[in-house]
Amino acid sequence: MNILDAIQARQSIRSFKNKEVSREIIENILNISRFAPSGGNTQPWKIYVLSQDLMKELETSVLSNLDNGVSETPNFNIYPQPMSDHLKNRVKECGRLMYGALEIGKEDVEGRLNQLKQNFSFFGAPVGMLVTVEKEVDLNGWGHVGHFIQNICLSSMDFGLGTCLQESWSMYPETAQKIVNFSESEILWCGIALGYPNEEHAINSYRTPREDLEDFAKFL
Ligand SMILES: Cc1cc2nc3c(=O)[nH]c(=O)nc-3n(C[C@H](O)[C@H](O)[C@H](O)COP(=O)(O)O)c2cc1C
Repeated sequence: MNILDAIQARQSIRSFKNKEVSREIIENILNISRFAPSGGNTQPWKIYVLSQDLMKELETSVLSNLDNGVSETPNFNIYPQPMSDHLKNRVKECGRLMYGALEIGKEDVEGRLNQLKQNFSFFGAPVGMLVTVEKEVDLNGWGHVGHFIQNICLSSMDFGLGTCLQESWSMYPETAQKIVNFSESEILWCGIALGYPNEEHAINSYRTPREDLEDFAKFL
């Protein structure tokens, strides 16, 4: 797949076909993605490809936390607090498009909660992965890990696969650490759901907008 086409065609995929992804393909994707740039070539990322048993254990534990009102302290603010209006508006639009595609109304609190919960089954994807960042790196290091996860999203497309990045996992860093057993020197950033896109499902049917060039770029 042409890289320019892949960048433009990538979208978050939140419903997947019931079709396995071979270990060979996953290894291929990760082997390509490791060529991401990072300051000083620090490569401050780790990725955990979960077995079906671990995915199930994570799902059961996190959903039980949610259902019983148990919360954990995320290691970072998923959204800025407080959040300025221009960012808030983009988040609102993103939610409006997704819930609109699913025909889940604003007042349907249970419908929205059920959709949030889909995150914790990796949206039914056959592959679930967790990405961590080395605790000692500063803000710039998180950016470097961003290159790595974008490589995963783009290279997956060459195999006909789709992805959804999932910061929602960072709501439960202690549960994830206990189950996946990553080192105390790592911070859980996000999950990645990976699988063959279900093109029939409404949740994969919309595209999120982007600001126009003149709104974010200045030629001086
Ligand atoms: C680091 C990161 C974390 C994200 N976390 C979630 C998540 O937890 N759940 C979810 O449904 N989407 C998540 N997203 C997807 C964004 O909502 C999505 O990328 C954005 O709305 C743009 O839409 P697009 O990916 O379809 O272009 C995340 C994206 C990024 C980059």
